Amino acid sequence: VTRPGLPGKMLSELSRSASVVVHEQDAPPSVDALAELAADADICLGVNGDPFNDELFARCPSLRLVAIASAGYDSIDVEAAERRGVAVTNAPGVLDEATADLAFGLLLAARRRIVEANRYVQAGEWNSTSLSLFVGRDVHSTQIGIVGYGAIGKAVARRAAGFGMQVVHHSRTRESDELSTWVPLEELLAGSDVVSLHVPLTPETRGMIGAEQLRSMKPTATLVNTARGAVVDEAALVTALREGWIGSAGIDVQAVEPNPDTSNPLLHLDNCVVLPHIGSATEAARAAMVDLAASNALACLTGAPLLTPVGGKEEPVTS
Ligand code: DGY
Repeated sequence: VTRPGLPGKMLSELSRSASVVVHEQDAPPSVDALAELAADADICLGVNGDPFNDELFARCPSLRLVAIASAGYDSIDVEAAERRGVAVTNAPGVLDEATADLAFGLLLAARRRIVEANRYVQAGEWNSTSLSLFVGRDVHSTQIGIVGYGAIGKAVARRAAGFGMQVVHHSRTRESDELSTWVPLEELLAGSDVVSLHVPLTPETRGMIGAEQLRSMKPTATLVNTARGAVVDEAALVTALREGWIGSAGIDVQAVEPNPDTSNPLLHLDNCVVLPHIGSATEAARAAMVDLAASNALACLTGAPLLTPVGGKEEPVTS
């Protein structure tokens, strides 16, 4: 188990059937640390960002399963795992609503300038009743464009409908439903007041929102990213926010995580709300993610079918 203190009830269940060794630090382990931890392990229970790559698999020859307590599995070299006979499971379906809630929180915070205004009050600067104080942009009656229409994208669509937004989406399957109309990406970007990203990180989606796409958006638009940082070209996003190609952004994810670098320009823009990848960070969702990973580990131990094998789904979901 690559992190200490993981929630849920299934880990203690697991420790009744297996000898469980836990990495001591609550931070992403290096390949060396992970290889040491998992040197004789049959199963590794990890989280997003742990370096499950070919070198690691080569150094852990008894490994049979990587059970990751995340929906996204872009930090796992699935091809290398398959080649070396290591099964992979993820934890889809248990964090969709929590992540959609946070996407909406970011959307509201960015458009209504909630974080900026909170900082102002906390700093004791609220000494005027001016009508121009923290004037933001509407959420209701605007158009949201959802990029990636899996379980999380759909959960965002349901919330948007409740806010009286018009909903369009772009996905590989060109299907519309009762909540949202499929449109080409170019049309979505040019016509939406809010663009919310819900695609997994794959070679196709890496950098899919770059300078050209940001320039094509409305100057008043808000970009929300609760997917993966590398889906967006961060340097282009900084320029877009500084130069007014778009109005604001709400970002839960970055290309490199964790990122304690305070010189990161994204942290110094009033029109950008930045969070430390907490889309699924509710007590219930996090416990369910770990429980699902531990249940996959138990299934592997008892020879039962894995509950959520990677590759068993048409489209991986990510938050
Ligand atoms: C996920 O499950 O993919 C979330 O981003 C948390 O890692």
